Amino acid sequence: TLGASSGGPLLGFKSVPVSTADTITVPPGYVAQVIAAWGEPVGIEGRMPAFKFDGSNTFAEQEAQLGMHHDGIHFYAQDGAKRGLLVMNHEYVDDGLLHTKGTGVWTANKVKKSQAAHGVSVIEVELKDGRWQQVLPSKFARRITATTPMTLAGPAAGHALTKTAADPSGTKVLGTFNNCGSGMTPWGTYLTCEENFINYFNGPASPDAHGKRWGLKKVDDTLYRWHEFDERFDAVKNPNEPNRHGWVVEIDPAKPGSTPVKRTALGRAAHEGATVAVTKDQRAVVYMGEDARFEYIYKFVSRDAIKAGGAAANATLLDHGTLYVARFDAEGKGTWLPLVHGQGPLTAANGFADQGEVLIKSRQASDALRATKMDRPEWTAVDPKTRKVYCTLTNNSNRGRDKQPATDAANPRANNTMGNIIEWLDDGDYSGTTFTWKHFVLAGDPALERADARGNIKGDAFSCPDGLWVDGRGVMWIQTDMSTSAMGKGDLVNMGNNQMLAADPASGEIRRFLTGPRGCEITGATMTPDSTTMFINVQHPGESPSERSDPDAPGKISNWPDHKQGGRPRSATVVIRKLDGGVIGS
Ligand code: FEO
Ligand code: CA
Ligand code: CA
Ligand code: CA
Repeated sequence: TLGASSGGPLLGFKSVPVSTADTITVPPGYVAQVIAAWGEPVGIEGRMPAFKFDGSNTFAEQEAQLGMHHDGIHFYAQDGAKRGLLVMNHEYVDDGLLHTKGTGVWTANKVKKSQAAHGVSVIEVELKDGRWQQVLPSKFARRITATTPMTLAGPAAGHALTKTAADPSGTKVLGTFNNCGSGMTPWGTYLTCEENFINYFNGPASPDAHGKRWGLKKVDDTLYRWHEFDERFDAVKNPNEPNRHGWVVEIDPAKPGSTPVKRTALGRAAHEGATVAVTKDQRAVVYMGEDARFEYIYKFVSRDAIKAGGAAANATLLDHGTLYVARFDAEGKGTWLPLVHGQGPLTAANGFADQGEVLIKSRQASDALRATKMDRPEWTAVDPKTRKVYCTLTNNSNRGRDKQPATDAANPRANNTMGNIIEWLDDGDYSGTTFTWKHFVLAGDPALERADARGNIKGDAFSCPDGLWVDGRGVMWIQTDMSTSAMGKGDLVNMGNNQMLAADPASGEIRRFLTGPRGCEITGATMTPDSTTMFINVQHPGESPSERSDPDAPGKISNWPDHKQGGRPRSATVVIRKLDGGVIGS
């Protein structure tokens, strides 16, 4: 049997070498199939416009097609292992690829198309004649975009800082964007996370302290330029609009007409992901990383227990509870610090008028609590068998630089180009307020001269871990996101394209399972309940170091997956199966 001689009980495949080819490579005995590429119809009845390879689909067509730059994904089984809903994020767009002539002439319609290519897709898929395919049309098919009406719920809803001229109630927000990682709840909903939302807003030349802490700045023409045709994104005119973004949004994929809800009790952050664990007394705990240099790791513990009865029975569960931020101390100990108004420094005298303001200003609150500034916390993953929680810290080349935070126990490497995965075990239960921690692995390349870049991997080399998931068998899946500007040189010279690896959390062995096409990152992982089909996303194949493709030569770096003359690279979902129909990774 495949690779049975070369590993522990969990990992039975033969590892693949690094690759710079413009293709997906999986181990012998496995097959990878592309579905649901950017621009394919999601399957709304009567609205299924075909993708046009020259980028000429209109914004109205894009609103009924899969968005760009797929990210977090989850499979909701509907018929055992053979049919279900795939819900996925579309993090951002490359305007050089999205429009026929790129950003050449910037128009209101290009802004609308860009907004329509963001957000979330719900598609129905089924295994038919040995291949996964979309169900077209599907009554579940749905696009949620940067303009979809949503509700703001929890302690920051209706707050003075969330009210705008267009929404004096402070509870009705339009849209979600820069949706990076995701999570799923045991009650059947999808959590999508708003990451680098601040980049969409035009700020004043000299922002106030709050704007500055969140990175608000005057937009230049390398960013999204939405504000030029949509005043909502001009924070000079609408200073509270950014406060309505940076939340975790809950979506009920089984109800296409339902209104997504932004859950402010989980705090505001450049959220990467939201991974749910369940305490012994059935409360929900949501672990979240904030992916920015020197930002924080959070967890939310619900006040109430999860009720039987699915989404309807748990419609306000994530509105009541306690948010904590992590402090990693030396000697492998740590404390969860509550972001509760009136406790410790979180008082009106220190600029936090109420709980809503604590949550809107989570970064400032975490600063005041002296939480640990981390090396870009990305996805978290929970292993329900061991109750260990893992978080990828993707990299932070600013660590230890002049006037920047120094190394500490949890972030031990200066000029951290490689990243690491940290693990902790909350004391008593997931709701525990103290924990023990250690590094699961320091990523790196043992062939390098620089000692700090070599890491301590037991197995195949990788760097910049981002996507992370522990599957039903306990296999940890690690996905990498080396930035295109750093790829193939410096410390990353031997790493090839971005990749996905499988790890045995008990032994620490790590084995490379998949390599992606050029210029992409690998992100998002989910399986059918029987673990015989895995779905992952390939994001931004062909990304240029400038992060905007040349519209005259869109397939220059990568033309994956279509490899069509004059075509353009497309983010897509990749379905992985074993030729013998067996369990993925075994
Ligand atoms: Fe969108 Fe932190 O990756
Ligand atoms: Ca990510
Ligand atoms: Ca990326
Ligand atoms: Ca990343």
